[in-house]
Amino acid sequence: MKITVIGAGYVGLVTGAVFSEKSHRVLLMDNNEEKVAELTAGKVPISEPGLDVLVKKHLKGGSLQVTSDIRKATQFGEIIFICVSTPTSRDGRADLTAIENVARNIGQNLKRYTLIVEKSTVPAMTGDKVRQVLQRYCKNGNKFDVASNPEFLREGNAVYDALNPDRIVLGVESKRAEQILRKLYKDFSAPIHVVDIKSAELIKHASNSFLAMKISYSNAVAAICEKLGADVEQVIKGVGLDKRIGPGFLKAGIGWGGSCFPKDIAAFYTLAKDVGYNFRLLREVEEINEECRARFIKILLEELWILKGKTIACLGLAFKQDTDDVRSSVAIAIIEDLLKQGALVRAYDPAAEENARKVLGDSVVYCDSAEEAAKGADALAILTEWPQFVKLNFKKIRKILAHPLIVDGRNLLSSQNVRALGFKYRAMGRP
Ligand code: NAD
Ligand code: UGA
Repeated sequence: MKITVIGAGYVGLVTGAVFSEKSHRVLLMDNNEEKVAELTAGKVPISEPGLDVLVKKHLKGGSLQVTSDIRKATQFGEIIFICVSTPTSRDGRADLTAIENVARNIGQNLKRYTLIVEKSTVPAMTGDKVRQVLQRYCKNGNKFDVASNPEFLREGNAVYDALNPDRIVLGVESKRAEQILRKLYKDFSAPIHVVDIKSAELIKHASNSFLAMKISYSNAVAAICEKLGADVEQVIKGVGLDKRIGPGFLKAGIGWGGSCFPKDIAAFYTLAKDVGYNFRLLREVEEINEECRARFIKILLEELWILKGKTIACLGLAFKQDTDDVRSSVAIAIIEDLLKQGALVRAYDPAAEENARKVLGDSVVYCDSAEEAAKGADALAILTEWPQFVKLNFKKIRKILAHPLIVDGRNLLSSQNVRALGFKYRAMGRP
């Protein structure tokens, strides 16, 4: 099938690459000329396991092409996926400027029946707005359908998730749209859940909010464990063994960040408010998340008393492992808190330094390894759950640090192992 993907970010680029891999022809469009030039030259602008190989293979083979020309993009695909950004506005609502802009441009350039699919995360009822905009700008009477096909991939796992989704949600309003999307996804083994457009939009917000709620639940339990001297890792393992609860998304620590959970929860809360429901549970989910950061800083204060002038070696800048993305990263927020208190920060991240520099500038010392970051530091803080941090040479790090203190914001290490090496080890909700 011929597919247009508008927006070549984490979702659009992965979607384009994955559909190319499934033998479709894809034209990827982005209004960021620099990004288009980079991609055209075969350079993948984000760090995502497996993406580089896939994109290069299909760019070379010609099944994946890139453009900044919206007219060409609109007229290429029998399906157009909208994958542009939907950031948070100041009032918490999703800023849908890019969605409106793309819908308008598509409307102006439509030449034949086309299925226009929202893949960006949008509040319920956006599909109606997109349809209205298309009707307004599509003057030549061309037919189209609007559909919603929310994306559930995780960064750091994006290619795998896009190729192996748990489910495929199709929000449609015509048999024709359903048939086109079923044909597109016929080689995927996931169950297909067909609903109306607003239900599809709601499924996405409700899923992200639920996942964030699970994490906040664990973090609240961790706060109680801290007071009682219990171990949240053990408690949550016991909880997650119940098949009705499941073990996923219960890892306690400094909380959730990233480009999606914070904005999607805010957008879902405001959507509920706009339609007359006070979704207060989501406010609690956010508040518990904020508290984690404060609890982490409190541990450092308990250990070091005064942070001013102290050097903290921070391992991790990305919002999670296996990504270079620092959008709403809790690691960055904690580093900013430390800097505000006058601490000196030496930071190391395997992939996110370049993006972190755009936020933190030269306010921290960027290091090429964990050992370098640890040099002379008063404490080692683990802020991102990179698996390679578990395998560090802690014997060596013990000698490099000025004081053998580890504050593990991701509950990544075995307390037994590091204590055996002579460290003082503090973690989140663990004795
Ligand atoms: P992103 O910022 O990485 O990419 C968005 C891309 O859209 C950028 O390259 C930008 O240049 C382009 N763009 C913006 N306005 C445009 C316009 N008018 N015309 C053409 N291109 C335009 O964002 P992302 O992380 O890929 O997220 C995109 C959407 O997908 C968001 O709604 C997000 O919530 C949702 N989503 C993201 C993820 C994720 O893991 N990142 C997962 C599922 C859903
Ligand atoms: C999340 C969802 O998992 C995806 O299904 C969804 O498609 C995506 O948002 C989106 O809509 O953009 P993502 O934000 O990429 O994916 O990454 P997650 O693995 O969900 O992690 C989010 C945050 O939660 C990270 O900061 C991570 O460190 C934290 N986390 C995750 C925990 O603190 N504990 C956990 O048990 C899991």
